This record gives sequence, structure tokens and C-alpha cells, in this order.
Amino acid sequence: MSEKTSAAKRAAELRQQLEQANHRYYVLDAPEISDAEYDQLFSELQQLEAANPELKTPDSPTQRVGGAPSPMFAAVRHRQPMLSLRKAAIDLKAEGPELQHAELIDFDRRVREVLLKAKVDYIAEPKLDGLAVSLIYEHGVLVQGATRGDGETGEDITQNLRTIRSLPLRLRGEVPPLVEVRGEVFLPLAGFQKMVRDAEARGEKPPVNPRNAAAGSLRQLESVITAKRPLAFYAYGTGVSEGWQQPARHRDVLDQLKTWGFPVSELIEPVTGAEGCLAYFEAIGKKRASLPFDIDGVVFKLDDLAGRNELGSVSREPRWAVAYKFPAEEAETTLLGVDFQVGRTGAVTPVARLEPKFVGGAMVSNATLHNMDEILRKDVRVGDTVTIRRAGDVIPEVVGVVIRSDAERSAHEARALVKLLDECPVCGGAVAKEEGEAIARCTNGLSCRAQLHGALIHFVSRKAIDIDGLGEKLLALVIDALDVRTPADIYLKLDAAKLAVLERMGEKSAENLVKAIDASRDTTFGRFLFALGIPVVGETTARDLAQHYGSLEALLAAAEADLATEHAEKKKERFPLLQSVPDVGPTVAASIAHFFAEPRNRAVIDTLVKLREDGGAGIHWPAPKAAAEGALTGKTLVITGTLPGLSREEAAALIEANGGKVTGSVSAKTDFLLAGEAAGSKLAKAEKLGVPVLDLAALRGLIG
Ligand code: IVH
Repeated sequence: MSEKTSAAKRAAELRQQLEQANHRYYVLDAPEISDAEYDQLFSELQQLEAANPELKTPDSPTQRVGGAPSPMFAAVRHRQPMLSLRKAAIDLKAEGPELQHAELIDFDRRVREVLLKAKVDYIAEPKLDGLAVSLIYEHGVLVQGATRGDGETGEDITQNLRTIRSLPLRLRGEVPPLVEVRGEVFLPLAGFQKMVRDAEARGEKPPVNPRNAAAGSLRQLESVITAKRPLAFYAYGTGVSEGWQQPARHRDVLDQLKTWGFPVSELIEPVTGAEGCLAYFEAIGKKRASLPFDIDGVVFKLDDLAGRNELGSVSREPRWAVAYKFPAEEAETTLLGVDFQVGRTGAVTPVARLEPKFVGGAMVSNATLHNMDEILRKDVRVGDTVTIRRAGDVIPEVVGVVIRSDAERSAHEARALVKLLDECPVCGGAVAKEEGEAIARCTNGLSCRAQLHGALIHFVSRKAIDIDGLGEKLLALVIDALDVRTPADIYLKLDAAKLAVLERMGEKSAENLVKAIDASRDTTFGRFLFALGIPVVGETTARDLAQHYGSLEALLAAAEADLATEHAEKKKERFPLLQSVPDVGPTVAASIAHFFAEPRNRAVIDTLVKLREDGGAGIHWPAPKAAAEGALTGKTLVITGTLPGLSREEAAALIEANGGKVTGSVSAKTDFLLAGEAAGSKLAKAEKLGVPVLDLAALRGLIG
């Protein structure tokens, strides 16, 4: 045997032994060899690979220590969309288990109705609070790992995923040519707590919860850093496959995953009917606190895979599964103080500073008190013991004061009331409340530094005017150093020379930023409207307004005309022009009209769109395409479900080419619903509102 072939043989042997050891240690929790033996085998393999670089393979255990930093994560289009889960909520206020768990019982009823069965088997799985990933194995070797992203497209994080010890780089046993395995990457609590301590020791901001810590670890550009994070993985399903006969039941899929070498949670159990689901939910709730990782609820999945096809999915959520989350967790701690924060729209929010407390899977040291009325209503005082509540990703909140004895009551009463604000804590401006609103706002607009900073952050953000490289810190700098006072000043006051002298900027980055600013002048009307930051106008509404009016002049004219109707008795009669835009109701319409009626806003808008030669920022967008004339002129349509042989975009183009308009949600203003296969809630809503429903053939008939 030549030296080369024997080296190759030895390397393969070592890889096999090391992966076996990894599997025993990280998946089966039953190590067979000592750490020292492992290290010895590992360094032998490292040396072999260093001497014979052609022997390095992507499935080598040496790849688990991380490699060269990747410049960026490439986009990965999922071959099968990664769906999300429909949620059912517990109603703790309802009386008796039947009403408390009504949503879960409903889920089971719908499943039984579709499958025409009296009892249904489910698989109950813990809902791990981490990140869903997709792993592609070709002939048993991990070739690609990606994040879920938006379900359609994720990011290629293969290098980082390889560092997770319990995740097999090569499948065991018989393997198909292609299989996609899906599961959750998460950070066990011990690892999370260590990350918190390490960050604190370095004087850095610690991660807020295990989920964020796991997400941050996976998105490291340097996999060497990811390798140091004690991430874990549980597999819970498969995606695309070739040459593999999917078994009949989910429990068999899980068994197959175990055989291939994946860790599968030991907490997973088959259950029967809604009663079985509830019993499991109760039991795991009791175990929750002693688990080494955070779970935020339970997932119930139909066991019968053929039945899953019958049930299908509605708006990216399968009807054969449900996430049942634990109710929000509460804890007691001490109120150390109350600060007031001012947001982009001037909203003044009181924030409770708390003695740090671990609740709902995260360390909480700040909680919202919502608004000033809440402080009065709850009568919280600095020094009080308060109950705080935290559910999932929701911002923690102060529930109320804990008073258990007369002594506690007198201690509470001896404390000073929280001083409410009558002026903005940032700019000193007047704080006012709109009629019927609970939130007080600083009335100083962009003259308030907090509002200015927030407005600029929003203006440059990706979905708005999209200026890459102008982050929060840099915006704070240009406000102070370069006298930026409005979004228009970004175009008028920033140039390469001025930017280059700022802290942590160089000539090159200043030039790049100026290029990005320049490029952003060429935008769309929808982005421009969104960037203005009109309160309660999100991306979709901005786009709808842009489509409806086509030009700024037309929108301004409608907003102005509508002001006269502001005090009409019936809500429907207020702002009738703006309310004729899809999805715009009285509140949104009022906000739009008031925003454009404000002279300060108009001045900024004028400067933004004025030509550069006239001293403006020169923001512009393509003129609207003249609406096509056709059978659908004046008609508004909504598309739902899967259309045979036509993508949603193609269907929308077809409708627009015939003069129609396409919007996102069904309302009384919708003329037709174009429904394909697996149409769900939109179809139900259309039927309820009496909106005529068309299939593709009927639409084609209509337009000839
Ligand atoms: S199944 C249709 N199983 O929950 C199936 N997901 O809301 C979708 N998750 O993106 C995924 N534990 O990050 C599934 N046992 C489990 C899960 C689980 C946590 C997460 C996952 C997913 C999200 C869906």
C-alpha cells in the first residue's frame, strides 16, 4: 500500500472513531472513551490532514472547531418551504378546564372533522425556544445547513452548524441519496448563564435570553466563535428527500432520525385525543423548571402523515399541528426606579428599573409600565415589591404591587409617589395626550433629540429609504457633530470630507456612505411614504397609499380635503377619501391627515423631494404606470391559496394588466377573492362578508 493510501485509510478510520465517540457522548449521553483518548485521536487526525490537505473532508470532525471567517451568509432557497406553527392560547381567566383549553380542543375537533375520525393520535413534542434549521445530507454527508429565514429563503450557515457536536456530519446506517432534516438549534441554560457571566466580565451587554444568544452564536461570521458556544440540537422532522420512502407515521420518522444518529428529545411522546394532549401539557409543565433547557410550550403534531396531506396548510401554517404555549411567567422583584423613554413618534413610556430577576427564560432588569395612567392606576412606588410578567418575545411588564400585610401596606404608603412628567425628559418640550389616547407624546417633533434620532434610524432603515452603513451610533454622531436636524439634512449636510473626520470613520468608509446616500435618492413612492414615519402607517399601508394615489400631490390633496370631515359624527364619515384606500380605517386615516397637516412635516417633505439644483435632497421615484384599462378596471381583488400553474406574482400581473388592483386582505371593499387550493382564513372571511369568490378559470372567463 502506498503511503498516501494508508494515510487516507487511517484518516477515514480516525474520523469514524471520533464521530462514534461524539455520538456516544453528545447524543446517547454514554461515553465509551476518555477525553484524553478522544484528544489523542483528534490530534492524530489533525496532523494527518495538515500533512495531506487533500484528505480534508467536509464531514471530518476537525471541521467542528470552526474555520476561516466567511464574508457573508449566502441566501438559500428552501426546496420545501419551512412552515411556522399556528398557536393556540390558554385562557387562564376562563372557568374550568374545558373553557380554559378551548382553543386546543377546537384544534383537535377540526382535525377530527377533516379526517372523519372519532379519536386522533398526536405526537407531543416540547417547543424548544431556539432556531429552526434545515440540514441537507447528500449520500449521508452534511452538505448544507441553513436558517429558516422567512420560510422561503434562509441563510447558509453550514460552517457554523458543523461546530455543533451533537449534529451528525455523516449519517449512520443506510442513507438515501438526499434527505433534508429539520430541527431546532438551542442553547441549554447552563451555556446561556455562562455566556451572560462572560459578557458581564468583559463589560459587554449580556444576551437577553437563550434564544437570542443561540441566534447570535449561529450568525457569527467566524465559525471559530460559534464553536466555543455550547449549542445543542434536536431533530424533529424531515423536508425534501430522494430515494427514501417516508414512513407512515411521525413517530417512525423520529425513530429513523435516531437511527441516522440525530439527537431526538426524550420528552417526545405519543398521545391520543385532546385529553391526551392536555395530560401531556400538565405533566411537562411540572417538569419544565427542572429541565436543562428552556421550553416555551408544547407542539402537538398529527402522527399520521397521510392525514397531514388531507389537512394541508393555511397561510404558511399547517392545520395538522399546533403550538400550545405556557402562560406568561410571573415573578416578584423590587422596583429600583422609574425612567421615561421617548420614542420615534414622541411617545413617552415609563420604564421600571428592577432588581434583576430570572423570569420566563430571561434575566429581566427593565419592564414597561406602558403609560403614565398605568403608574397611577397601579400605584407603584420606588422601593415596592412588584410582580413582573414575561411571555416569550413580549416586552416584560409590571403587573402590580405586592402587598401582603399591614406592615407592607404602611411601608408602601410611606414611599413617595412616582413623579409624573409634564415635560419631555429629553428636550423639555410640552407633553400632551390626544383625546382618547392613553399615550402621552412629546410635542416637539424633530426638535426633540430622541424623536430626531428615532426618526433618522427609521428613515434610513432597509425597508424605508435604505441607506446602508448609517447605523444608530453614526446617526447620533452626525446629529451632534454635523448638525443634522431632519432626514433631509442627510442629503444636504453630509459629504465625504465631513464624514471622514468622524470617530471610527475613514476616507474609504466615508466615500462608501456618500455613495449609499446618493443611491438612496432613487427610490419608490411606497418606500418614501414608509420612511416618513407617519404614526401607525406600516410598510404595507405605505405601499397601498402609494399604489392608490400614484403621486405625492394626489395623496396630499386627499389628506387636505379630508381634514374638513374630521369631526363628522360617524367614524365612517371621517376622512372618507383616505378611508377608501384598502385597509385604511378611521384611526390610520386620521394619523395620515394630521401628519400632512403639520407644517414642519410639510417643510421636510418639500426639501426631500425638491430638485438638487434648487437646494433640495432630490429624492425621486418612477412615475406610476398608467393603470391598464380592462374588464377589471375599478375592481379590487385579493389572492389566496395556491393557483394551478400560476404564481401569486403572475396572477397579480394578470389582474393589473386588465385594470384591476390587488390588495393583501379581504374587507367589505374587496370586489372579488381569487382563491386557489388550500385557501383558508381569507376564504372564510370573504364568504362571511359576501365577497364573490372566483377560481382561476372564472377569472379567465371574466377577462376573456
Ligand atoms: S415543527 C410545521 N417542532 O417553532 C412545522 N417546531 O412556530 C414547523 N419549534 O420555526 C416546525 N420546537 O423554530 C416544530 N418540536 C418542534 C419545535 C418547533 C420549536 C419552533 C421552530 C419553528 C417554530 C414554529
